[in-house]
Amino acid sequence: MTTQRSTDQHRKPVTLLGLGPMGLSLAQTLLRRGHPLTLWNRSPEKADGLVAEGARRARTAAEAVAASPVTLVCLAGYATMYEVLEPAAAALEGRSLVNLCSGTPAEAHAAVTWSGERGARYLDGAVMVPPPMVGEPGAVFLYSGPREVFDEHLEPLTSLGDPRHLGEDPGLAVLYNTAMLDMMYTTLNGWLHATALVGSAGVPARQFAELALGWFMPAVVDYAALARQAPDLDAGTYPGTLNTLEMNLNALEHITRTSQEQGIDSAHPRLMKEIAGRAVAEGHGGRNYLAVYELFKKATPHP
Ligand SMILES: NC(=O)c1ccc[n+]([C@@H]2O[C@H](COP(=O)([O-])OP(=O)(O)OC[C@H]3O[C@@H](n4cnc5c(N)ncnc54)[C@H](OP(=O)(O)O)[C@@H]3O)[C@@H](O)[C@H]2O)c1
Repeated sequence: MTTQRSTDQHRKPVTLLGLGPMGLSLAQTLLRRGHPLTLWNRSPEKADGLVAEGARRARTAAEAVAASPVTLVCLAGYATMYEVLEPAAAALEGRSLVNLCSGTPAEAHAAVTWSGERGARYLDGAVMVPPPMVGEPGAVFLYSGPREVFDEHLEPLTSLGDPRHLGEDPGLAVLYNTAMLDMMYTTLNGWLHATALVGSAGVPARQFAELALGWFMPAVVDYAALARQAPDLDAGTYPGTLNTLEMNLNALEHITRTSQEQGIDSAHPRLMKEIAGRAVAEGHGGRNYLAVYELFKKATPHP
């Protein structure tokens, strides 16, 4: 049996559009924190459980937007947001939109113009955690756009997690989001390719995990050391006292050749070797590995 939650009259009312896996989690968290919550979703039945817990279901997106000073958008993407909000344009006048859809900085900039033309103030956002972590300690949410909109709606944004305002440029939230996902995929590929490498000799992943993830990653990818070296990236100084790019290029050459010899895919190490090789060719050979950052800052040369 579901019990009706009581909303806290001191909490600010919030509207949420979108009840996919992430939207559902946002809604549950806002209800748990006592926010009067109005919901709209294309498939209305997804709100049934939330309505039983105290949320209000709007019949249209326009009715939902009109119910609160701020509307959170958690739909499949920017194009869906326009599709859903175009018929609600009149209700947007004088209200705030906080868009949590993933996208690109160009899409975020276009959304500012679109919202401005309809009289709405726009904050772009990105959710940095999976649905079960929303509202939990360490749930970081990124925002960019007008600081006053962020400050005005800080209470519901804080209910969802740890809100970080990155700056006035509306594209920053999705840019940071994409950059961190880039880091995630690169790290995951490193683990997966290394596992394929030892797997070529019949070593199961579960056996390799103990050494690779239990000992090597924490010992070698020293996150505190990376943070300490971040000012070196800003200054473009890469002292080669403890390791040089030349030496790292050798290691990447070995990884590439071993992958080929072991009969596994070598595209990933070849790419890393090619990048390090270009950095050496540009004169960074005596600097440490982080000097590849100098290449990453520039557009890829055409072959
Ligand atoms: N899930 C995650 O782990 C995660 C993590 C970080 C960020 N995000 C971002 O959060 C956003 C939502 O993600 P999600 O996982 O909840 O699910 P999703 O599959 O990206 O989006 C589902 C939502 O979009 C609606 N929708 C799709 N097409 C529509 C259309 N043509 N008209 C109206 N509504 C439409 C769905 O409505 P119906 O229910 O009617 O289908 C549902 O509300 C995405 O931008 C995603 O990138 C997700």
